[in-house]
Amino acid sequence: MQGRKILFGVTGSIAACKAATWVSSLVQEEAQVTVMMTEAATRFVTPLTFGALSGQQVYTDMFSTDAEEIMAHITLSGDADAVLIAPATAQTIAQLAQGMADNLLSAAVLASAAPVVVCPAMNSKMLAHPATQRNLAILKELGYLVVEPETGPLACGEVGTGRLAEWDTVREVLQGLFVEQDLAGQQILITAGPTREPLDPARYLSNRSSGKMGYFLARTARRRGAEVTLISGPTNLPAPPEITLVPVQTAAEMAKAVKEHAENASIIVKAAAVADFRPKNVASLKIKKSTAALQLELEPNQDILASLGKGKVQRPDQLLVGFAAESNNHEAEGRRKLEAKQADLIVVNDILGKQTGFDVDTNQVIFITQEGAEQLALLSKEETANRIWDKVIALHKSKRG
Ligand code: CTP
Repeated sequence: MQGRKILFGVTGSIAACKAATWVSSLVQEEAQVTVMMTEAATRFVTPLTFGALSGQQVYTDMFSTDAEEIMAHITLSGDADAVLIAPATAQTIAQLAQGMADNLLSAAVLASAAPVVVCPAMNSKMLAHPATQRNLAILKELGYLVVEPETGPLACGEVGTGRLAEWDTVREVLQGLFVEQDLAGQQILITAGPTREPLDPARYLSNRSSGKMGYFLARTARRRGAEVTLISGPTNLPAPPEITLVPVQTAAEMAKAVKEHAENASIIVKAAAVADFRPKNVASLKIKKSTAALQLELEPNQDILASLGKGKVQRPDQLLVGFAAESNNHEAEGRRKLEAKQADLIVVNDILGKQTGFDVDTNQVIFITQEGAEQLALLSKEETANRIWDKVIALHKSKRG
């Protein structure tokens, strides 16, 4: 978001108070935010609030004689990288659908060549009304990006659809505007997180994977235009917006879910830390403590990546990416796994490094392919995810010749 010029339109809904926190988040990410408010919006939240949060003048009046505001609808919209309207009321949506220009914000939208993101928020009956639905359909036809409202308790006391979308979702939509859609048309299957292998009703065997790398892969792939299915073991992370999330617990559940979704995928990335073993017998009642040592018998889980590698023979166009979590002999182990699992790319990461291990936000990986090894710098996991997609795109191209 850094340096992006966002023209932020606020219209008259109680959800305008949420827009104030969105402005604050954008400013924290160093975006340049200019707020335009309709007259109705100023009844809910004062321009002073938005002025203080954005650090910029707030524009409200189409007919202001203030030198700075004259022609604001032209100057500000011409300069914007994106126009975000949140919350967008039924009234504003209707005005935009008709191409009306009877207030500063609707005039600015007409005068803008920048992409427009519209976030409706209203009572569920108003939203469901055919007039609103028709107006939203017109906006989509015009190329506006409509971020669908969510279902839940509404300010009017009802429960229904009409809540302003979550900021996380809208932020991802905005980010998608600023990156090349070079994964558009790809159906990507990603696995992430640990698996849990139950021992008894209270206990399980697992590992320290946080899922962060896989979740960043899912977010960045979606941003770059892919359709993403994320099969995830248990994590504490919020579900990435606009992807299909398939939650699983055990390695066996993950294997089954992967099998169900693999066929449709053009790219599969196995970032999950799958447990190699599971307890042979799962006790139906809690195992009681005793003074004697406890012996656990473990049996191996299926290697999901290796079985996908074998299946690739049937679908040679599918690109398969595995990870290798290593504490020593990184490159050699990565190469061994590339061959053994018939992957196209193995991303090796060091689980002992303080900035590359579990649960941190950075990573330093080595790419291993048939062509050789490539060591990357220490990067954020988000940036690492983007580098992985760059590599995947290059491999995909060379595969198709
Ligand atoms: N993997 C998998 N199924 C398993 C074990 C691992 O699909 N039962 C996948 C992981 O998702 C990862 C890759 O295989 O993409 C390598 O996982 P890793 O744990 O590094 O290697 P292992 O094959 O388990 O070998 P080892 O634990 O001996 O290093």
